[in-house]
Amino acid sequence: MDGFHPESSFGPDTARHYDDHLRGDEEATASFLARYARHGRALEFAIGTGRVALPLAERGVRVDGVELSPHMVSRLREKPGGEGLDVIVGDMASQTTGRTYPLVYLVFNTVYNILTQEGQIACFRNAARHLDEDGVFVVEAAPPWAWIRGEQFVNVERVTAGAVTLDVNRYDHATQILDENHVRLGSDGIDMAPISCRLIWPSEMDLMARLAGLRLVDRSGGWNGERFDASSPFHVSVYGAA
Ligand SMILES: C[S@@+](CC[C@H](N)C(=O)[O-])C[C@H]1O[C@@H](n2cnc3c(N)ncnc32)[C@H](O)[C@@H]1O
Repeated sequence: MDGFHPESSFGPDTARHYDDHLRGDEEATASFLARYARHGRALEFAIGTGRVALPLAERGVRVDGVELSPHMVSRLREKPGGEGLDVIVGDMASQTTGRTYPLVYLVFNTVYNILTQEGQIACFRNAARHLDEDGVFVVEAAPPWAWIRGEQFVNVERVTAGAVTLDVNRYDHATQILDENHVRLGSDGIDMAPISCRLIWPSEMDLMARLAGLRLVDRSGGWNGERFDASSPFHVSVYGAA
């Protein structure tokens, strides 16, 4: 997208309002992940404001994080329990923490925030590098077919008397790049929150894992073990050593 820079998409404004409208799956996500962390440590790639890391920490897991945006980390630090987490500002495709973990995880479509196939493969390799011998890498993402409605489409995100928020999208089937802008039209003005993503089919993701020395050990269509099929809104994929 012309004028878009990944490092600026989670700036101070987005960070401040990130937790205003949560997804609502935080407790289910944390319970699922806690089983793999085995009350030890876990590493979240793109930890953000700790939406998932904090409920996971409440379950007795010591959560470390890597996060590109210092603004998201500042917001995490302001939240109860956020000060104590070990978080490094860096790129999840290359940043190391110097530790290994029973669990590394990357949720909420965030693997798509890396805009090249090479970068996404590097992210899988970086996850593998951080795993204990029997550790797992958990990735949650929406399959492209559940998301894309043609080459251009608009979703209505929120409607109130004072403002509407529209999600305006353009998708390039050849590059797998989705350019998205969340546009808030209000009586107080217009705001834009742009983001580009490179979407990955589950099968391509499995090959990325293979290149990183991992293999798919489980895939479900939700955090409560729902069956994954073509109607699933997202998949939760668990990768372990090949
Ligand atoms: C949709 S948010 C998800 C945050 C958190 N994982 C959650 O579930 O709420 C995406 C996050 O990924 C971060 N991010 C994007 N690209 C990144 C990268 N290459 N390395 C580390 N963090 C990245 C953004 O700064 C942002 O905080």
